[in-house]
Amino acid sequence: MSKRATGSNEHGGAYGRPLRVPDGPLSKVGPGTPCGELLRRYWHPVALSAKVIDRPQKVRILGEDLILFRDGKGKPGLLAPHCAHRGTSLYYGKVDEHGIRCCYHGWLFDVEGRCIDQPCEPGGGQNKGLVRQPWYPVEERYGMVFAYMGPLNKKPVLPRWRVLEDLQEGETLFVHGYTGIGVGADDTIEVIPFNWLQNWENIMDPFHVPMLHTRHRAIQYTAAAGNLPEVTFKYTDLGVNYVAHRVGSDGTKVERVSSVVFPNLVLVPDQQLDVTGPTRYVRWLVPADDENHILFHVMHVPAGMDGQAMFDLSSRPRAMGTDKPWSEMTEDEHQRFPTDWEAMHSQGSIACHAAEHLVSSDVGIGMLRRLLRQQIKVVEDGGDPIGVSYGSEDEYLDSYAGNYLMAASE
Ligand code: FES
Ligand SMILES: [Fe+2]
Repeated sequence: MSKRATGSNEHGGAYGRPLRVPDGPLSKVGPGTPCGELLRRYWHPVALSAKVIDRPQKVRILGEDLILFRDGKGKPGLLAPHCAHRGTSLYYGKVDEHGIRCCYHGWLFDVEGRCIDQPCEPGGGQNKGLVRQPWYPVEERYGMVFAYMGPLNKKPVLPRWRVLEDLQEGETLFVHGYTGIGVGADDTIEVIPFNWLQNWENIMDPFHVPMLHTRHRAIQYTAAAGNLPEVTFKYTDLGVNYVAHRVGSDGTKVERVSSVVFPNLVLVPDQQLDVTGPTRYVRWLVPADDENHILFHVMHVPAGMDGQAMFDLSSRPRAMGTDKPWSEMTEDEHQRFPTDWEAMHSQGSIACHAAEHLVSSDVGIGMLRRLLRQQIKVVEDGGDPIGVSYGSEDEYLDSYAGNYLMAASE
């Protein structure tokens, strides 16, 4: 075995072991970084529409600090914070019908950064048309404001999801921007304090379900989830899927399909294996920076059902050995009844890939990282990454994620 695999010596002693160094190319999200440039070729939700108002707010997305607001005509705008005049932050700006006015000398910028007034200059600024506040395109859909932070000549269409648009009478959408993770969701934490990729990889790790969520201390899903599944992974047009087959004690066969979609989307079936059918929600894991991310979740709510109640049921704590909400659990309870949060958070603020020992049950993680590296290279070579479309606004993406009951003979 290599020195790296065993520690500092042939006995694997801890003394002199290598420092845990983050995997740079995959974990960095800032401008000019390999993964950051890949992520910038897609649209990302940056806020819930309902929270974007005429009061400017700070957002941090892909390592960039930005100012988000809604002008008097109802259009959202996402601008660089430092005013093009002399650098005061537009966080202190005043929003009016046409845009945001800097507090210092009153320059007015519209939602695309055009300077449309310089009130201290003769005639309101003869040359104001030469000034542009750096801006990013935004669009609203599914109750969220999406931003495109890549090169303008590469702006793709904002993808539409059939599961979120194919609404029959009485059906609604429930949208939530939140920061908890699966079991253990908790609105009290504003950002998730570790690298987004740890969360995305968790979705392609079906073997943690029987261990962490079922056999460790308490049944967090259903007892049937404790059976080791037979899993196959495959690349799709949009990312990676896994299909986990399980046989229940009554002989029932369930096929559970989970998907990750580039660059950071998650489609996961209901945690209750007996809730069958295609998944009803789409979730985005949006990097705030290298060490923090935020979640957005949109769910298709059947007629007569309450979206908040469904969300609570699927994403909030259930029996884990304690009835307390995750946020009220003691340190002792966190130790005894850990969830995804404890598992991922304790990997570190950025996981160290070089110190891992990936084995056959990690094949999904390996496939995901390989595809990420490959797509980073596609972008570096001037190409378009998977899932990016410049075509019709009316194309729909389909999800194959879900729990499916199989016939006994299958
Ligand atoms: S610094 Fe913004 S108007 Fe002068
Ligand atoms: Fe999990």
